Amino acid sequence: MSPQDQIMVLLRQARERISGEAISRRLGISRAAVWKNIRELRGQGYAIGASTKLGYHLVGLPDKLYAREITAGLSTRCFGRAAYHFETLASTMPEAARLAADKAAEGTVVVAEQQTKGKGRMGREWVSPSSGGIYLSLILRPPLPPRDAAPLTLLTAVSWCAAVNRHTGIAAGIKWPNDILCRGKKVAGILTEMSADMDRVHSLIIGVGLNVNTDLANLPPGATALSVAAGKNFSRVELLKEILTLWEQNYFTALQTGWKSIFNRWRQLSVTLGRQVQFEDQGKRLKGEAVDIDSDGGLLIRIRTGKLIKKMSGDVSAA
Ligand code: BTN
Repeated sequence: MSPQDQIMVLLRQARERISGEAISRRLGISRAAVWKNIRELRGQGYAIGASTKLGYHLVGLPDKLYAREITAGLSTRCFGRAAYHFETLASTMPEAARLAADKAAEGTVVVAEQQTKGKGRMGREWVSPSSGGIYLSLILRPPLPPRDAAPLTLLTAVSWCAAVNRHTGIAAGIKWPNDILCRGKKVAGILTEMSADMDRVHSLIIGVGLNVNTDLANLPPGATALSVAAGKNFSRVELLKEILTLWEQNYFTALQTGWKSIFNRWRQLSVTLGRQVQFEDQGKRLKGEAVDIDSDGGLLIRIRTGKLIKKMSGDVSAA
């Protein structure tokens, strides 16, 4: 732990104030070094009160997705236990892939306050304005062959959607394959990238972008943010902790007991099933009713002739 992380642990623990003298003793650093680190923490947005006689105390935390904020009080086994925070990245995906190739532990996350080239599905851009969203990539190493890994994206959609519902009270739903919508507008998207050989997944990078406190003016048409839906801002740090906790619970439960309950939760949260949809199939524009999802995450659509078509990738839109 860095001296700043250690100072934050002491300030969080201290019921009352803690003197510079006590901090310097506990950390084995000089009083001047304590002061310098406190000044830097203030620069990062921490409100730290100081009185010459009584010492330092914590007045307020910044809503920044700093690694130490994510890990403070987080009781997961591995999700988020190692976290890398960046102010600006082109995208969290290649950064996470690099860490995964460097043997980073399962559950490691990369977060950025802002992305300049956020990656969306199908070569699209994920617009990622500064400090309003959660832009995160998670490294997983599921003991699965690559053909069985597809439901992990559905599991991610279910986990984020349920955690958002629980934390904010907003009724969010899932549009196939894995967009999270609030009142018909997209609030989150998921991108999964895999490194595997024929029979084993080496690592999976699951990237999720969620618009939390983002101004509509900074988002593309058709997108929204949780703050817009609720009329108030949320703590991204607290929301992320809830997401990581639920996401991990679902992950280990599914690996142990199978995907059935995740598929059922997906069906309950779906805003696609039971609806008429339009889609493309082998260059033709078709319409039909979205009736179910298959065990590989494909969408089953019944077209006018009664035939069932399974759509594995791409998008569907309301007919
Ligand atoms: C989509 O719906 O098109 C998927 C969007 C995925 C966006 C996230 S933001 C964090 C991670 N880093 C990226 O560059 N993309 C994903």
